[in-house]
Amino acid sequence: MTAADAPLSLSDSARIDDLISRMTIEEKLGQLNLLTADLATTGPSVRGDYVEEIRKGRVGGLFNAYGRDFTREMQRLAVEETRLGVPLLFAFDVIHGHRTIFPVPLGEAASWDLDLMERTARLAAAEAAGEGLHWTFAPMLDVCRDPRWGRIVEGPGESAFLSMHIARAKVRGYQGGDLAASDTLAATAKHIGAYGAPRAGRDYETADVSERTLREIYLPPFRAAVEAGVASIMPSFNDLAGVPATANEALLDGIVRGEWGFGGLFVSDYEAVEELKAHGIAADDADAARQALAAGLDMDMQSATFIAHLGDGVRDGTAPLARIDAAVRRVLELKARLGLFDDPYRRCREPAASAEDLTGAARDAARRSIVLLRNVGEALPLRRGDGGALRTLAVIGPLADAGREMLGSWAGAGDPDKAVAILAGIEAALAGSGTRVLHAAGCPIESGEDEDITGAVATARQADAVVLCLGEAAWMSGEAACRSSLDLPGRQQALAEAVLDAAAERGVPVIAVLTSGRPLALPWLEARASAILQTWFLGSQAGRAVADVLFGDWNPSGRLPVTVPRSLGQVPIHHDQRPTGRPPSDNWYSSKYLDVRAEPLYPFGFGLSYTRFRYDALRLSADSLPIGDAAGIEIAVDVTNAGPRDGEETVQLYVRDLVASVARPVRELRGFAKLRLAPGETGTASFRLAPDDFAFVRRDMSVGPEPGEFEIAAGPNVADLPLRSRFRLDADARS
Ligand code: GLC
Repeated sequence: MTAADAPLSLSDSARIDDLISRMTIEEKLGQLNLLTADLATTGPSVRGDYVEEIRKGRVGGLFNAYGRDFTREMQRLAVEETRLGVPLLFAFDVIHGHRTIFPVPLGEAASWDLDLMERTARLAAAEAAGEGLHWTFAPMLDVCRDPRWGRIVEGPGESAFLSMHIARAKVRGYQGGDLAASDTLAATAKHIGAYGAPRAGRDYETADVSERTLREIYLPPFRAAVEAGVASIMPSFNDLAGVPATANEALLDGIVRGEWGFGGLFVSDYEAVEELKAHGIAADDADAARQALAAGLDMDMQSATFIAHLGDGVRDGTAPLARIDAAVRRVLELKARLGLFDDPYRRCREPAASAEDLTGAARDAARRSIVLLRNVGEALPLRRGDGGALRTLAVIGPLADAGREMLGSWAGAGDPDKAVAILAGIEAALAGSGTRVLHAAGCPIESGEDEDITGAVATARQADAVVLCLGEAAWMSGEAACRSSLDLPGRQQALAEAVLDAAAERGVPVIAVLTSGRPLALPWLEARASAILQTWFLGSQAGRAVADVLFGDWNPSGRLPVTVPRSLGQVPIHHDQRPTGRPPSDNWYSSKYLDVRAEPLYPFGFGLSYTRFRYDALRLSADSLPIGDAAGIEIAVDVTNAGPRDGEETVQLYVRDLVASVARPVRELRGFAKLRLAPGETGTASFRLAPDDFAFVRRDMSVGPEPGEFEIAAGPNVADLPLRSRFRLDADARS
C-alpha cells in the first residue's frame, strides 16, 4: 500500500465527490493552479497577484511559501473567503533541510547510510511542517554521470541501485508513517525523464537516451519512490528523445501510471507547461495546456495556463472534463491525506524536532559524508598539541572562512550566517590545545582584486602543517549552474601550487579540503597533497564535521557516489559502462586516449579510512540457481579491521553478467552493507540475490534475467574487488 493511494476515509471520499460535483469549471481549474509566493526565487518569473487569485478560488496551492503567520493568513483567505473554502497546499524545496541544513544530497549519498538519510529527511520534514508546510519538492532522484551538470549536487549520484535505496529512505523520511501527522511532508520524486543526462552537461537540454538506458538507469529510482508511496512526481524540463517530459504521455500515463500503478499527483516544474512552446511542440499556451493535461499532468506550476485555457478547452471539446476531474480528485485526495479538510491550520505549531536533535544530526550527517581520498604517510589525523607535534596550523584558502558557502545550493530557509565555517570548526577543536591557528584566504573563490598569494605563502611558511581549503562557491552548482571545466575556479590552483611548493621546501604536510557540488578533476593536487578530503557542501555544521575528521574524532567513512574523472575529456565516465569490443590495453587498437589514462582519478565507491580493512572471504549458499527460484542465494562477506582503530567500512557487492543477449555493464552494484569494526574484529556483511537482481532489458526489450554465468565480486570499491566468485542461473527445467 502506498501513501499515494492509501484508502481514503469514507467521509473524505464523500467530501471530495461532493466538492467536485459543486465546483464550477474555473474552481476545478483553480485546484490545478500552483503559484509561487516568492519567499524564495526558484525560477525565471515571479508573480505578485496570488492573494487576489486565492480569494477568487483560482489557486490550489502556493510554493516558496512557509512561516506560520504567512501560511495561516493565506489559508484563512482560502478557507474563509472563497465560495467552497477548499484549503491550500503549501510547498517548498526542502531538499537537504529547512532551517537546519544537512549536507547536499550528493554529499549525503557519499555516506551510503540509508538510516541517516531517512533520519535527516524526517527531521527536515518536522522542522518544515512546524512552519506551515505540507509538501516538499524532494527527493531529487536524477542519476547523473556528467559532473558538468550543476544539479549533480542535488541528486543521488551515478548508480541506479544506490539511488533506488536512497529514494525509498527519503520518501519514508519525509512522509513518515502517516501524512496526516503534523510533522510530515508529502514528498515529490523529481525530475522524471533522464534530467541528469542533458546534452553537453547543460541544464534543461535534451536527453537523448535509449529506451534501454532510460529503463535500466534513469527510471528505477522513481519506480522505487512510487513503491515507497511517494505522494507526487515532477516531470523534468527537458525533452526525452524529442518529447518533453511535461507532455510525454508514454512516460507519465504509459509507464508511471500504467506500468507502475502510480496513484499520486503529477506536478509540473516551474513554468514547464508554457515552455512547451519554446520546445517547439506547442503553438500557444492553450495548446501547451491541452497537451500537458492529455499526457497526465495534474498541477500546473506557475505558468497558469491550465486556469487560463482549459475552461475554453472543455467548452470546445479539446480538453476532456473527465481528465480535469481526475486531476482535481488527485489534488483533493492529497489535501485529504494531509488532514487539511479536518484541520486546515494543523501545521502551524511548534516544530516537532528539537534544536539539539537537528544540530546533532547535522554534524553527524556532515562527518559521515566526508570522503578521504588520499592520506600519505598518515598525514591525517592531525595530532592536537600533544607532544608539541602541532605547534602552528595554517588554514589557507578561500573556502576556509566561508560559512555562507557551506550550505550549498537549495539551502531552503537555512541561515548562511549561522553555518560553521571550516576555520571556526578548527579553532573550536583546537581551543586550549596550545596549537596556534593562522589563517589567510590567499585569493577569492573566483578571480578578483583581493588576491594575496604571497601573503598566504608567508603564512603557510610559519606552520607545522597546512590545511588548504579549496573549491567552488555554493552558486557554482545547482539549477542552471553548469560548468565547462572541472578545475578549481579562479586562481586557486596558483595559490595551491605556491603553498605546496613552500610546504615541500620545509617538509610540511598539506591537507587539501575540497568543498564542491561536483567531482573536480585535480590530478595535479592528487600528486602533491599529503591528504585530500572531499567534503561536498556539508551544511550548517560543516566546520565542526571537518574538524572531527581532521583531528580523528571521526574516522572518515564516506565513499564516492560518483566517479571522479582525471580529466573533463573522460566525461561521461562511470563504473557501470558497457564493455567494448576493444577494452583499454597496450594494443594500439584499443579504447584509449592519447593524452590521459582511461581510468578515473578515483573510482565509484572509493574512500579511505584511518584504519585498514581486510577482505577475508566471500561465501555463496549455492553456486547456481534455477532462474525461477525466487528464494535466491545468500552471500556472506567476511571483513576484518586489520588496523589500529575503530572504523566503518561500506562493503560493496558487484555483479557482472558475462554473456547475455545484450552487452551488460562491466560491473553493477547489487548490494552494500556498513560494518563498524573494532581493531582486530571480523564482521560479516550478508546479502541475498534472487534471479530478479540479475534482470535487465533484454534484446527483445522484455525485462528479466537470462540463464548464464555471472561473476560476483566484493570489495571496498568498484576498482578494488579482492573477493570474486562465479555463479550460474540455470534455465528452468520446465522451459
Ligand atoms: C525549479 C526546479 C524544481 C523546483 C521548482 C520549484 O525550477 O527545477 O526542482 O522544485 O522549480 O522551486
